[in-house]
Amino acid sequence: MRTCLAIILAAGEGTRMRSRKPKVLHELAGKPLVVHVLDAVKAAGGTAVAVVVGPDHEAVSVEAKRQVPDAQSFVQRERRGTGHAVLAARDAIARGYDDILVIFADTPLIQADTLARLRAALADGAAVAVLGFRAKDPKGYGRLIVKGGLLTAIREELDASEAERAIDFCNGGLMALAGNSALAILERIDSNNRKNEFYLTDAVAIAGALGLKAVAVETQEDDVRGINNKAQLAETEAILQQRLRQAALEAGVTLVAPDTVFLSSDTTFGRDVTVEPYVIFGPGVTVEDDAVIRSFSHLAGAHVGKGSIVGPYARLRPGATLGEGAHIGNFVEVKEAQIGAGAKANHLTYIGDATIGAGSNIGAGTITCNYDGFAKHRTEIGANVFIGSNSALVAPVKIGDGAYVGSGSVITDAVPPDSLALGRGRQAVKEGWAKRLRDSRPAKKK
Ligand code: UD1
Ligand code: CA
Repeated sequence: MRTCLAIILAAGEGTRMRSRKPKVLHELAGKPLVVHVLDAVKAAGGTAVAVVVGPDHEAVSVEAKRQVPDAQSFVQRERRGTGHAVLAARDAIARGYDDILVIFADTPLIQADTLARLRAALADGAAVAVLGFRAKDPKGYGRLIVKGGLLTAIREELDASEAERAIDFCNGGLMALAGNSALAILERIDSNNRKNEFYLTDAVAIAGALGLKAVAVETQEDDVRGINNKAQLAETEAILQQRLRQAALEAGVTLVAPDTVFLSSDTTFGRDVTVEPYVIFGPGVTVEDDAVIRSFSHLAGAHVGKGSIVGPYARLRPGATLGEGAHIGNFVEVKEAQIGAGAKANHLTYIGDATIGAGSNIGAGTITCNYDGFAKHRTEIGANVFIGSNSALVAPVKIGDGAYVGSGSVITDAVPPDSLALGRGRQAVKEGWAKRLRDSRPAKKK
């Protein structure tokens, strides 16, 4: 097995994002750009990771280490070009790997098998392998100059001749370097060009001059789509959503109107799940077999049990866990709560920081009052409990198995199993009162 180091360049300024946040922490399908790249690297297997970040971008290193705990991060103090950025990770390269992969952190659609194809070119004897694509609009990209099957140079747009600018075979930004010659090549890169930058792309011509082989490996434009601004972020999101919908359909999920369903990279579906139009899946959602997610529901960080029905217009927030056959209906919000098998909350309810036992029925308009202005408290509802409509359950509070709560109650004390709790004003009836009122007043004008 060949060893591999992936160097992820994330020191871009990202000013065109018009954001205080580092560019590579912007999200696609619920996941930061740099994490998409790290996941592709992880999926490619057996790879050490070095991340090159800008001086004020500690948050990027933190995110990278959260994903890959032994990732090493390097700071590029001055932004002097892609070749300069790679050498910020010189210490990692010097440890000695068979393959070095250089990946831009703003190219999130890159796939693991593309990384594998570049590495395969190294295994076949190339010292440098560059990922190329046929650009619909080549403007702004480095052009790949190929002669007799070999890549002889990459010319940046600014430095290219008229004839070279007509080439549509472009540098996607991903490069693989053989570890035994990588430093020798990288250290020869200079900044003699129109931008006075150290271009990583010069590695190709340098390899040629050293008698080493460079090749181009072709891929689809979408795989190397780079993100520099919010418009490109949105376009890339659309492509990724298409991929995720396609994958869900191929896995057997029924999406009634796929274009209206928004998925996260980690959304997981069981068999025979149906998703109605206009549903949004934030990060961290798993849906088990036979569940139905009805229109206009919003789910994030939630688990939907087998055969459950969610929505229409339901909101499942992080920590919502539905047991088998649970029903969460319209205008019901569930957060950090376990809903037992077959339990139902069908209308206009808030369930937060709660446990609801199997088979319980939560009436319309029930609210768990979980917050006292300082801290959150739990509501524990047993199995087969009946909560009458429009009840307020003031946490912390426990309601025992099989108990009833009368409609309109405000429950502040524990309710023992199998009992009835009423916490509301007692009804008074004054017979004949309305008639007496009418009789005492002049007749209403017609
Ligand atoms: C680069 C390539 C170009 C290719 C294009 C693909 C070079 C010289 N040019 O151009 O051939 O077609 O990508 O999108 O490599 N970065 C740093 N530090 C730096 C400079 C850049 O970390 O000093 C990082 C950026 O964060 C970014 C990546 O390197 O992730 C690419 O930099 P960018 O300035 O966007 O390069 P391009 O001009 O687009
Ligand atoms: Ca770029």
